[in-house]
Amino acid sequence: MKTYSSEPKVIKFDDTSVTVKMMDDSWIIDQCIGHSPFVPKQGYVWKHEDRCTRLLIPGDQYEDTMRFFRDTYGNAAVIAWDGNVALGHIIFVPKAEARKRKMLFHERLPASAGDDKTLVVEAVAFCSIGGQKYRRRGIGRAMAEMMIDWASQTGWAKIQIFGVTSGLFPGDWMDSCMPPKSFWQKFGFQVIGQTRVHKSLRDAIDIVGEDNPRHSEAERRQKQEIKVQLQQGLIPEEEWAYDFDLEKSLFKI
Ligand SMILES: CC(C)(COP(=O)(O)OP(=O)(O)OC[C@H]1O[C@@H](n2cnc3c(N)ncnc32)[C@H](O)[C@@H]1OP(=O)(O)O)[C@@H](O)C(=O)NCCC(=O)NCCS
Repeated sequence: MKTYSSEPKVIKFDDTSVTVKMMDDSWIIDQCIGHSPFVPKQGYVWKHEDRCTRLLIPGDQYEDTMRFFRDTYGNAAVIAWDGNVALGHIIFVPKAEARKRKMLFHERLPASAGDDKTLVVEAVAFCSIGGQKYRRRGIGRAMAEMMIDWASQTGWAKIQIFGVTSGLFPGDWMDSCMPPKSFWQKFGFQVIGQTRVHKSLRDAIDIVGEDNPRHSEAERRQKQEIKVQLQQGLIPEEEWAYDFDLEKSLFKI
């Protein structure tokens, strides 16, 4: 196992200081943090049937599994902190582990060359409930860059992400466990496959037309503009009717 030498990244704004760092003993992730920001409780154990919908690790095995990933592979998560408040994370695991544990989306993919050097992004969470002040400050970017840097330094050749939406409805991706493809493309990920999600144009218009109290005014306005564009047929079908698989090569195999 190669060691990773990068320092934590500190992001300062207003009177706030956020630290983005690899998961360490200060907190081994023991639950989905979709309800972040929150203060982790040490010794907290989920019920067996509680799951993160993408990782599918039984709730009462979550902490041990994350610790196993960390101890076996060097790490499995980047976490953003404001003091003792956990703001968000990116969780990534070796593809072989994702297959073995039947994590979401892996059932539909054939094995391919280099899988033993491939890492899979399994979950992203970041201030999904509240925490508006932390958004659009570069924290999501810092987490993604640290994961890519860690993967490069520790010998992984590829990073893959499955079941990513187009990001047509930016406000809604706050409710999704995976940022949209436009976010990942900023870091050099490319689309390697797409799957129809059986959404009709009517469904797409209804979804984007729904009111969501979590959305900001700007997001609401943006959704209305998208709704009109959908009604006028200005947005290609690919953007509202497909999920995407993406990959980034770190070095040749
Ligand atoms: C996607 C996400 C990681 C962005 O985090 P962030 O810290 O607000 O984003 P950043 O400030 O680092 O921005 C990174 C890039 O994404 C873009 N971006 C971020 N939010 C965006 C939005 N709502 N619309 C369009 N672009 C956006 C930024 O413009 C930026 O690009 P740039 O660096 O080229 O300017 C975050 O919104 C997220 O995790 N969402 C999932 C929420 C969640 O937890 N859901 C429940 C999980 S169970």
